[in-house]
Amino acid sequence: MGATLYVCLLAALLCSAVSCNHQGKHKDDHHHHGHHQHGHHGHHGHHGHGHGHHHHHDEILYHKIAAENAEFAFKLYKQLASQKDGKSKNIFYSPLSISMALSMLSLGAKGATHNQIFEGLGFNNTKINGTEVNEAFKHVLEMLNLQTELELSTGGAVYVHKGFKPIPKFMEDIKHFYHSEGFTVNFKNTSETMDIINKYVQDKTHGKITELIKGLSPESVMLLISYMFFKGKWEKPFNPAFTHKDIFHVNDNESVPVQMMSRTGMFDVFHDKELSTDVLKLPYTGNASLMLLMPQKGMKHLEESWCREHFKKWHRSVQRSQWQVILPKFSISATYSLQNVLSEMGITDVFSNRADLSGISEEVKLKVSKIVHKAAIDIDEKGTEAAAGTGVEIMPVSVPPTLKFDKPFLLVISNRNTKSILFMGKIANPSEK
Ligand SMILES: *[C@@H]1O[C@H](CO)[C@@H](O)[C@H](O)[C@H]1NC(C)=O
Ligand SMILES: *[C@@H]1O[C@H](CO)[C@@H](O)[C@H](O)[C@H]1NC(C)=O
Ligand SMILES: *[C@@H]1O[C@H](CO)[C@@H](O)[C@H](O)[C@H]1NC(C)=O
Ligand SMILES: *[C@@H]1O[C@H](CO)[C@@H](O)[C@H](O)[C@H]1NC(C)=O
Ligand SMILES: *[C@@H]1O[C@H](CO)[C@@H](O)[C@H](O)[C@H]1NC(C)=O
Repeated sequence: MGATLYVCLLAALLCSAVSCNHQGKHKDDHHHHGHHQHGHHGHHGHHGHGHGHHHHHDEILYHKIAAENAEFAFKLYKQLASQKDGKSKNIFYSPLSISMALSMLSLGAKGATHNQIFEGLGFNNTKINGTEVNEAFKHVLEMLNLQTELELSTGGAVYVHKGFKPIPKFMEDIKHFYHSEGFTVNFKNTSETMDIINKYVQDKTHGKITELIKGLSPESVMLLISYMFFKGKWEKPFNPAFTHKDIFHVNDNESVPVQMMSRTGMFDVFHDKELSTDVLKLPYTGNASLMLLMPQKGMKHLEESWCREHFKKWHRSVQRSQWQVILPKFSISATYSLQNVLSEMGITDVFSNRADLSGISEEVKLKVSKIVHKAAIDIDEKGTEAAAGTGVEIMPVSVPPTLKFDKPFLLVISNRNTKSILFMGKIANPSEK
């Protein structure tokens, strides 16, 4: 295990017009436009061909959106941290999953609605157009789902109210570019529909997210979901025998008991003088790593200043040397209603009656009623080898310096191949669930 992470994002679409009685017009068209009910073919069915020889153009494309996605990730962090409670609360989310879901939504958006999403995601700064952005995400999804050693799976789903007829091109595109499955449900029967959706999400996140939806409007006509599940194994596990009870300083006045894992060995470490921050990079097997950032003099300056350039610098600057690393074992989750945060980032129309989602439906005027994002992380000792069997790695000749994560720190989990930030956040209090 080492780290298990899971995330889900849900966007519910409602009719924006006061009355939109499209019901009855298209009864019994369950199997229209290729939806299937309770079908199940995950992402696995989608990448049957075309791998192993990605062409040059694709590679340039997804590296281009990597920069924009990373910018978005840090922008979103600042926005989340500036919310009420943002200072003292844990923050944890998957920027990639959010940009992917928004980009999927933008497939059906037009005019100002589309431009706001595109600009919010930073794609207006690139020279690539919408089609290429979709191609790039498709490529990222394929690359990520290919990383077998990472146990990472990601994809999406779209739930459509029976009788509601989305434009077939939209359904085809989200399937093609975003590995999303389409289903027909009856939103009028909210309890049944919630069950169906929650079961799907539970299945895709290996039982980790059980109740994504707690309430659902019977007025919904469509629901978009994106999920990601990631189970990383440390390249070098921690020995559980060395895990001990210790204290984590939440702030100057408050501390909480935690289980601290400990390992002595070679680590990639850097001290950033500019931000007076200790940087530790912990590799997972496969092409992913966890970067931990612990400021020496308070969190405020670091979280207000950090950006993509720092992140790149830290990756370049870490150096391998001998350390004793002490890191809390924890399990946290966070749920966000993103409408406000996204509105503050300029994405407003899609939530209002001005929404132009005519790429999804021409006959019914739609808007997004809510966007829910839930992400979680478990950090423990385990790696590839049976952790219990791993003794001390190398006995240092002299006592190595200690790097102890016993006060709030930031973290970023990234994938090397796609240069994607999979997850990021702040651990302000590891004992908070
Ligand atoms: C892209 O959109 C953002 C946000 O609206 C704006 O600040 C920026 O100037 C735009 N960039 C370009 C190249 O238009
Ligand atoms: C997007 O750009 C590609 C490559 O430059 C081009 O082939 C394609 O026609 C463009 N698509 C649109 C919708 O402009
Ligand atoms: C909703 O679905 C459940 C489960 O399929 C069913 O038992 C119930 O009768 C349905 N309710 C309505 C109002 O259709
Ligand atoms: C810690 O306690 C001091 C004195 O009671 C108070 O002034 C300060 O605001 C507290 N700090 C925090 C972070 O709660
Ligand atoms: C890492 O990515 C490369 C391709 O970029 C791939 O060949 C390799 O198998 C990946 N490693 C693992 C362990 O998944």
